[in-house]
Amino acid sequence: MNLILLGPPGAGKGTQAKRLEARFGLKQLSTGDMLRAAVAAGSPVGQRAKEYMDAGKLVPDDVVIGAVDERIEQPDCKAGVIFDGFPRTVPQAEALDSMLGRKGRRLDAVVELKVDSSALVDRVRKRAEETRASGGQVRADDTPETMETRLRVYHEQTSPLIAYYAKRGILKAVDGMATIDKVSEAIEAALPLPKQGRNPA
Ligand code: AP5
Ligand code: MG
Repeated sequence: MNLILLGPPGAGKGTQAKRLEARFGLKQLSTGDMLRAAVAAGSPVGQRAKEYMDAGKLVPDDVVIGAVDERIEQPDCKAGVIFDGFPRTVPQAEALDSMLGRKGRRLDAVVELKVDSSALVDRVRKRAEETRASGGQVRADDTPETMETRLRVYHEQTSPLIAYYAKRGILKAVDGMATIDKVSEAIEAALPLPKQGRNPA
């Protein structure tokens, strides 16, 4: 099973992807995490991505598509992938369709996490405060100014994917304003998963 978690910055994509990974043996593939690791390692991809990420803008499609194409070939992705933060543009969605098709795989569902903009800003501010308080590394893009750009970029470049997948009949909208547990329940209820395949929570 392959699914996409679609939603604006701070919607809970990473939180829910990790829970699905633990429960269903699927692999979380977060392009944000992959790119942050590349930046930290100073790799050519990281060097190219850094300025876009720090500004809250999208990294060019070819960089991200190439990285995903390579990553889903790894053995740990065979059982299925939860795409977290990918695709983010229509060209990325088209590239995903063709790369899955080439590998004889398909996309089973797209879960859209719907969260109000004001809650997103609060969540990301809180995450930065908590990370700082615990002595961790705050994400370079978790500033109020960059968050404004990230939200604008989501509405301009990523939200057209909602119609793209709705047309295909695989879009499931979930209320992402509910508690983390309730959102998980709603996602599981929306997914085409056989009951006997579920690991205990
Ligand atoms: P990425 O890392 O994907 O960041 P993002 O989309 O901005 O989203 P976040 O990771 O901030 O939020 P999330 O939805 O994962 O929420 P989380 O679970 O953490 O991308 C970063 C950058 O990388 C991009 O700006 C771009 O530059 C580049 N990039 C990445 N992918 C790309 C692509 N495909 N193409 C081009 N560029 C790309 O939750 C947030 C907080 O809220 C947490 O503290 C959490 O505990 C809390 N929370 C979660 N759920 C709830 C809830 N239900 N109630 C209350 N609090 C909650
Ligand atoms: Mg995330």
